[in-house]
Amino acid sequence: MHSDLTEILFDTDEIAASVKRLGAEISRDYAGKTILLVTVLKGAFVFMADLARSIEGDVEVDFMAVSSYGAEAKSSGVVRIIKDLEASVAGRHVIIVEDILDSGLTLKYLLKNISSRGPHSIEVATLLHKKERQQADIRCKYVGLICPDEFVVGYGLDYGERYRNLPYIGILDPKIYS
Ligand code: IMP
Ligand code: MG
Repeated sequence: MHSDLTEILFDTDEIAASVKRLGAEISRDYAGKTILLVTVLKGAFVFMADLARSIEGDVEVDFMAVSSYGAEAKSSGVVRIIKDLEASVAGRHVIIVEDILDSGLTLKYLLKNISSRGPHSIEVATLLHKKERQQADIRCKYVGLICPDEFVVGYGLDYGERYRNLPYIGILDPKIYS
């Protein structure tokens, strides 16, 4: 375990099992359709790579990068698009892929923004859900793992751009950010 963590919350096997389950659900729900996975950079890049490979059938990927104004660890709900999608989503079956649903404010903005571009359907897949903290009313169909209200890193998730490469998800020692 990385020495900046206090514990491993989800190990590699637990994450893999969860992603496999989501992939099976999505494969079943979208049988015969082409899915467009819209990945929210940067945190969701690892999850998306594994999720895409666990889906049977046709999958395309595109990327969006957003930033929330305000404090680094908290979302303000005011979102700025840093990188937009390359392709049109009109008429497509879109699944927004997120690393973690925390307050839900980022996803609320993304859902509204992408919905306005005329997709055929739109759903959300998140690897982690901090259930206790969700403020915004988000319909998230595909949830991987329920996460306690702790600051977690690894498997794409960062603190100050670090720890994204850890193959597991752990709780960051509060000493690191206090
Ligand atoms: P929301 O708008 O509050 O739902 O913010 C979601 C975004 O905040 C995620 O996509 C992450 O980038 C970031 N975030 C929230 N909680 C954590 C965490 O525990 N570790 C790392 N990033 C987090
Ligand atoms: Mg982040």
